Amino acid sequence: MTDTVVVGVQWGDEGKGKFVDWLAEDFDVVVRFQGGNNAGHTLVVDGDTFKLSMLPSGAIRPGVLSVIGSGAVLEPWAMLDEVKDLRSRGIPIDSDNLVVADNVTLILKLHKELDALRENSAGSAKIGTTGRGIGPAYEDKVGRRAVRLADLGDEASTSAAVSRLLRHHNALRKGLNAPPVDEESLIRELRQIAPKILPFAKPAWKVIGESRAMGHRILYEGAQGVLLDIDHGSYPYVTSSSTVPGNALSGSGSGLGTVGTAIGVAKSYTTRVGEGPFPTELRDDVGAYLAKAGREFGTVTGRPRRCGWFDACLTKQMCSIAGIDLLALTKLDVLDNLDELKICVGYRINGDFHGHFPAASALQAKAEPVYETVKGWAGNAAGKRKQSDLPSEALEYVRRIEAAVGVRVRYLSTSPERSDIIELSAT
Ligand code: GDP
Ligand code: IMO
Ligand code: MG
Repeated sequence: MTDTVVVGVQWGDEGKGKFVDWLAEDFDVVVRFQGGNNAGHTLVVDGDTFKLSMLPSGAIRPGVLSVIGSGAVLEPWAMLDEVKDLRSRGIPIDSDNLVVADNVTLILKLHKELDALRENSAGSAKIGTTGRGIGPAYEDKVGRRAVRLADLGDEASTSAAVSRLLRHHNALRKGLNAPPVDEESLIRELRQIAPKILPFAKPAWKVIGESRAMGHRILYEGAQGVLLDIDHGSYPYVTSSSTVPGNALSGSGSGLGTVGTAIGVAKSYTTRVGEGPFPTELRDDVGAYLAKAGREFGTVTGRPRRCGWFDACLTKQMCSIAGIDLLALTKLDVLDNLDELKICVGYRINGDFHGHFPAASALQAKAEPVYETVKGWAGNAAGKRKQSDLPSEALEYVRRIEAAVGVRVRYLSTSPERSDIIELSAT
């Protein structure tokens, strides 16, 4: 397999972590290229659960190099906690197998505070963020006042970067009735963490380029999902980064043409955590059943995830935007025991059929899903590893999704466990 990007093609939590960890067996380098510790990626190996937020999902594979690219935002304290946790579980993480881009933007406590201040004052207009300071950190990056990892390298650079940042933040905080951030204390905090985090700092673009030159295989791991993309997602109910495969290149410093395959991960139904439109949401017993059977609680915040039918119309739109070559469909087992399933193939808005989800919020609010109904199955998909072991109606449901989205489903996941994956034959 050539260099590959894996992204979520729904609203996040599609099971990217499990899939990337499984795929990483065939790769040498796994790169995170956007997002920060708003991500929550769950890996289950022989019953042991790992939850990764800052580290790439290849981190627990021996011999795999983990890279956090400059397109990500780094919460250094959270990353060090994750490293410590993995080390305590016998997984050696050090500067030989973990590289962080020296030009990555840092998430600071003041970003989390600003995230909370805004959300708490927004009332019903809140986004429902993860509260990790992601939006404010990216704002500082594009505002050209962020503190970057390399700024921790010497005292003068740290002071200059903090001073530039606080000129903006302390003015903003005054308007929000929040106390100013003390410059000396922040510099001290950063000086304290510098020796712990700097050993991982390297020019990630160079490390990746040299790996490629040595013939190493590179896997880029997206966080969130295309429906949360800052350009193409359900704006303003999105995250603050570009979640499409194209950003794997710019978010890591890799050239055009270096990536061969884009794989989209989708759940066999749909979930969303946070606010915003969700045309196929089920606020009934079936929705409650999916939440229970799928254990749909946010990995990062523990919030209940909203659940609904598979939206092939939105997924097709996202796959087109993202240029998805192959799909990995997860959590098929959660649909065991349902008599009937529905797949959304478009929307009725003001009486007209729409084959895509429009950008205008006023139209989005009126979108009524148009469904195809598919028979459920007797027997279980849960834990299956062979296509021939699947109930025939389960395979039929997958083929209906494949036809409606227009992208080949190559992989099927049937439980949280690493190896419970079926590689499907082409139709
Ligand atoms: P990510 O953010 O895309 O990595 O997904 P999360 O880890 O946040 O959420 C996916 C959840 O579903 C996790 O609890 C996984 O362990 C679990 N999961 C992944 N694949 C499957 C599957 O095929 N079946 C079931 N039942 N659970 C799965
Ligand atoms: P993974 O990588 C699901 C959602 C939040 C909120 C919106 C903005 O685990 O799939 P943010 O904190 O990014 O400013 O929040 O995006 N969100 C996610 N939802 N999975 C995620 O990551 C998410 N990361 C952010 O719930 O609606
Ligand atoms: Mg998640």
